[in-house]
Amino acid sequence: MGAALADAALRLGHDVVVVSGPVSIDYPRGVELVQVTTTDEMLDACRRLFPECDGAIGAAAPCDYMPHFVQTQKIAKTGEPIALELIETPDVVAMMGQNKRADQWVVGFALETADRRFRATVKLQKKHCDLIVSNGPQAIDSSDNEVELLSPDGTVVIAVRGDKQYVADELLQHIEKRLVL
Ligand code: C5P
Repeated sequence: MGAALADAALRLGHDVVVVSGPVSIDYPRGVELVQVTTTDEMLDACRRLFPECDGAIGAAAPCDYMPHFVQTQKIAKTGEPIALELIETPDVVAMMGQNKRADQWVVGFALETADRRFRATVKLQKKHCDLIVSNGPQAIDSSDNEVELLSPDGTVVIAVRGDKQYVADELLQHIEKRLVL
């Protein structure tokens, strides 16, 4: 969806910066691509780049957890099970939502398997997004998607189903209509 959204935004005449983790697809020519590996690196890149942007769309799926401690030495086997302690990673979209100026906007994504509309709206409010795209798990590894674009009060702005480029084009048109100044 990130590549399809970048493509749609380029065709609408926007300058596009993509902050991306390691992915197996190509981004369209014409975007400024900033490659990161960890959620912390994505946070740093977005903190640096967001002030220069009109808005941000958070279509990435950054890791939600990271190891609390990183061992510098090899962990010796003991024959016993070991537990890895994980802590939450920072939320990149929430950081941008909290720090956006009055002239900036943030659109999040939410992938839910149940109570999709409700949970996506709660997420929008928690992360201070202006709109959120709710999609189901069938979006993963598929060329198609089925989404609802939701406003802060949970109203469905549009519901779209189709190949990801078509869905991205529709989303971008509505995001532009509602949010781009
Ligand atoms: O909380 P959840 O991961 O379901 O929320 C999805 C939204 O949050 C997406 O827009 C995703 O890009 C963003 N996200 C983030 N930083 C994280 C995890 C998710 O920005 N660490």
